[in-house]
Amino acid sequence: FIVDRHDIPGKNRVKVIIEDQPVFAEDQVNYIGEPILLVVGHDKTDILKILKEIRVAYEDIPPVLTLEEAEQSELFPIFGDDNCFVTYAHCHGDVDTAFKTAETIIENEYRTGYQEHIYLETQGVLATYEKSRVSVFGSIQCPFYVKNALISALGFESDRIRVVQTTVGGAFGGKEDYPSLIACQAAVAALKTGKPVQLLLDRLEDIEVTPKRHPSVIKIRTALNEHHRIIALEADIRLNAGAYMGLSNVVLQRAMFNIAGVYSVPNIRIKGRAVATNTVPNGAFRGFGAPQSIFAMEMHMDGVARELGLDPLEFKVNHMAKKGDLTATGGTFRHDIKLVELIAAVDTMSGYREKIKEFNTRKEGPYRGIGLAMVLHGCGFTGSGERDHIKARVKLRKLSHDRVEILVANVDMGQGLKTCLKKVVAKRLGLPMENIIYENPDTDRVPDSGPTVASRTTMIVGKLLANAAKRLKERWYEGGFIEVTESYKHPPEMQWDDTTFLGDAYPAYSWGVVAVEVEIDPVTYEIETKGTWAAFDIGTAIDRRIIRGQIEGGLLQGLGYGSLEVMQGKAGRVQQRSVTDYIIPTAMDAPKIASQLIDNPYDQGPFGAKGAGELTLVGGAPALAAAVGNALGIRIDRLPVTPEYLMEAVENGKAH
Ligand code: MTE
Ligand code: MOS
Repeated sequence: FIVDRHDIPGKNRVKVIIEDQPVFAEDQVNYIGEPILLVVGHDKTDILKILKEIRVAYEDIPPVLTLEEAEQSELFPIFGDDNCFVTYAHCHGDVDTAFKTAETIIENEYRTGYQEHIYLETQGVLATYEKSRVSVFGSIQCPFYVKNALISALGFESDRIRVVQTTVGGAFGGKEDYPSLIACQAAVAALKTGKPVQLLLDRLEDIEVTPKRHPSVIKIRTALNEHHRIIALEADIRLNAGAYMGLSNVVLQRAMFNIAGVYSVPNIRIKGRAVATNTVPNGAFRGFGAPQSIFAMEMHMDGVARELGLDPLEFKVNHMAKKGDLTATGGTFRHDIKLVELIAAVDTMSGYREKIKEFNTRKEGPYRGIGLAMVLHGCGFTGSGERDHIKARVKLRKLSHDRVEILVANVDMGQGLKTCLKKVVAKRLGLPMENIIYENPDTDRVPDSGPTVASRTTMIVGKLLANAAKRLKERWYEGGFIEVTESYKHPPEMQWDDTTFLGDAYPAYSWGVVAVEVEIDPVTYEIETKGTWAAFDIGTAIDRRIIRGQIEGGLLQGLGYGSLEVMQGKAGRVQQRSVTDYIIPTAMDAPKIASQLIDNPYDQGPFGAKGAGELTLVGGAPALAAAVGNALGIRIDRLPVTPEYLMEAVENGKAH
């Protein structure tokens, strides 16, 4: 069977945020790897033979391959009349006056590259069509995103569609939107053939065609007064979104709202743009744009401190936000901030303050350096998203024999959700954990408790389950069959304006401090990570062992992003298409990671918990880059920090 756009009964668009991406191409393909049609059959050898015989006649249109090209191009815009998916801005305070009265103005540009998720198993789904219902099983993060996409592409009523999560061995944001595309394709194929259809990408295909972390160009400009205090911050963030918008606007917003990092600045103006290019569409990746912008800000803070002859850490400490201070969007940090304790913990573990003195004065031997980054993560959806769009509902079902089932749409993808949520419910009910059942979600059985993204699940869904468990306990009787449903309620103190982007962007923040020590080979400029130390405030941990796993995994992913993970496009095609060419850290590259948690219970989270999953990645790259900068006496303004980049930076005399 050949399955293409003509077979789509509903709308030939993947329903994500806007509907710009076709399920199968119509008359134009916008990137290499864009799906045109499927060849479906029971024998792989036959399919491969048929595929070999298909010739696609393309009429070439000059492509727009880079951010800069897209902005200058007057050629066949990919999107709208300026190749720009979205442009945003937010501003508070009086930025212009601050810059006019400033003693010093420091400006710099930072660039970050791609990052590919390399989750354990590649993207894949299985679709069936039976008794006029479509069912899709797959490695997915958001069963109801997939279901809504199927409703739109198939034109089916909701009750004719079922989506079931199969066990996921890692997703990291990469299985938020892409599964909707292949689910629609496989479902349409199942409709046409009347047979189950399995669509699995192999690793080469997966790396080539699935979304990645957005490459970025970020300009930061700061105004300082005569006391070396930053009085205003201006930033311009540009993301290369690729050929379709996908989740780029959400990624851009998070990059913007978090760019001030852990610092409170009275006057802020941020601009952002997500630009369309003829390259693979980019999407969500642990941190959603914040790893890019926080890297830029951390490097900027280091750079400003050095330019003014100040100690970077002391300079940062002078600007750290305190409870009651303004956030980057003019909201309020409402809860205790324990950055001082986090810094102290990292300093004790790493000897940061002693070592930096030593490395600053060393003249001989291989280059050694230490760096420290301070990071935050706004937990959960932005602004009023939970209230207006997600509207989460959870259900607890008491069965006989004192067993209780958790019914939520959220998935365990390695972040330990099954343990965490079971623990929350068991603890509230005073039952052993073995009495709690939590199966992979099936949209036929579970209410829509929202997607498993934005580190929202433990904090938001966990809290709803804790509340449900409390009510269940009140109604509890032996042998009884009881169901309790709980719906999301917005914290009343949270104010957010979705047009000006002003107010409380997040209900709560998690915090982290990371230090990295490196040694750099004076001939090859290869970086060896000698040690990594980190302290985090994620509220109160539900399960410390799981958080330790999140810390080690997240940090390693951040260190890889900072140094090893190189991905380049050439003529619109990703060059590093295998795990041989796209190098991620393995066990051999993993440095010793020592970590500590500082308890800081959050009253709205279950047993005091806040979000943790994404935060742990964010500090890895800036701490490593700061360490390299310290070792070589240069300013790092690009990720990844490769030996080639370092050699150029040192030889071009950027060293001081
Ligand atoms: N950890 C593992 N092992 N595997 C993953 O796919 N995803 C990360 C993070 N940690 C991920 C992970 C991302 S992108 C998010 S948003 C959070 O987990 C989700 O965690 P939550 O359960 O708090 O929502
Ligand atoms: Mo995580 S990027 O929100 O899936």
